[in-house]
Amino acid sequence: MKLRAGPAVGPLSGRYLPPGDKSISHRLAILGGLAEGETRISGFLDAADTRATLAAMAALGADVKESDGLICIQGGRLETPKSALDLGNSGTGMRLLCGALCGHPDLLGQRLALVGDASLSGRPMGRITRPLGEMGAVIETLDGHAPLTLRPARLRGIRYVMPMASAQVKSAVLLAGLFAEAETVLVEPGPSRDHSERLLPAFGVSLFDGEPGIGVRGDQRLRGASCHVPGDLSSAAFILAAGLLAAGSDGIALSNVGLNPTRDGVLRILRAMGARLDLVAGDAIGAEPVGRINVSCSELRGIDIPAEWVPLAIDEFPIIMALAAVSSGTTRIQGAAELRVKESDRLAVMSEQLRRLGVAVEETADGAIIEGGSVRGGQVDSHGDHRIAMSLAVLALVADGPIEIDNAEWIRTSYPGFVDDMRQLGADLEWMN
Ligand code: S3P
Repeated sequence: MKLRAGPAVGPLSGRYLPPGDKSISHRLAILGGLAEGETRISGFLDAADTRATLAAMAALGADVKESDGLICIQGGRLETPKSALDLGNSGTGMRLLCGALCGHPDLLGQRLALVGDASLSGRPMGRITRPLGEMGAVIETLDGHAPLTLRPARLRGIRYVMPMASAQVKSAVLLAGLFAEAETVLVEPGPSRDHSERLLPAFGVSLFDGEPGIGVRGDQRLRGASCHVPGDLSSAAFILAAGLLAAGSDGIALSNVGLNPTRDGVLRILRAMGARLDLVAGDAIGAEPVGRINVSCSELRGIDIPAEWVPLAIDEFPIIMALAAVSSGTTRIQGAAELRVKESDRLAVMSEQLRRLGVAVEETADGAIIEGGSVRGGQVDSHGDHRIAMSLAVLALVADGPIEIDNAEWIRTSYPGFVDDMRQLGADLEWMN
């Protein structure tokens, strides 16, 4: 479907509550299915990706019930699903589930298939099958890609030095380690989001310091927990950016935003670019820090983004690139080759779409160099990537004509309410077919 996004007709204003955090929702669906007894989840993200993970847990035998926005999962006893588990577009769903299932004691000797859509089937799975294979997992891939066929087997703990900072790899191996013999230790080259580490203790799992790295003991039993999901900073980032761009916007309040320090790279980068953001810390939700962000229209300038901030803002580069296109001066992104294996090759796709709007962008092997200036309206394509669609819709606020985004329906994977939320704040967005 095509989304038409028009230039701002006035300042954006109002209050805003982001949808539930996607990473945390996936993890809670999985942990709830693994844990004995009842897990109650409020604030779960109602989007295609997280629904796919929840449906997979139900197909694995978890009893999932929903009422009044509360999800109750009775878990703890897994069975072989009748058909392949379809994780749709979700890398987190597929990689974490693969880790959780490949040594699960209830599934030993069985055969399970994990499938995804065309985008997910093009993303690398070797990054999880290598360490899981070292643990003794038996996983067949199609040349390192989904579909994955698992034959759950007894695993042994390992010490694994990860080649890249990736929370999906870390979490997949930690989840496998829960059911392995002895201890599993993960050492990362740099910090990646730590939601799994923060959530596991609520399910009765204690982690230990692997000196260096994070460790988990094997043969664990998880017990159900009651959890609330904080708002997703990665979704709120689009609204933040809209508030920064739309002339005259002053003090838009974004409440209940997750402010986990392993996710706050976007705030560091935007501030360094000159964004006027006020952060007000609130009460933590479980082990996750949460707060309010007030955002006002700001003059942005290009910067050299430090490579060590990249993993902390890994999902926000499409919107950061869009903002860089209308900042004064040059923005340089480096150390960001991981962006090439997301829902699309985000360096290539974003560079191409920005060029179509008249922006000077040089794509490099691990980043991009963007000359800020003005953008014109035009036709662009999300290439099936939700975050690219939303970034281009936000950029339209300051384009000199409407931007029409093809394949924008992929927004449903992470943020089905995006168009309504933007319109509520005063933006001119409409679906065209
Ligand atoms: C995620 C980790 C990140 C991120 C993704 C969600 C997670 O991926 O891009 O959207 O929930 O663990 P990588 O681990 O591949 O960096």
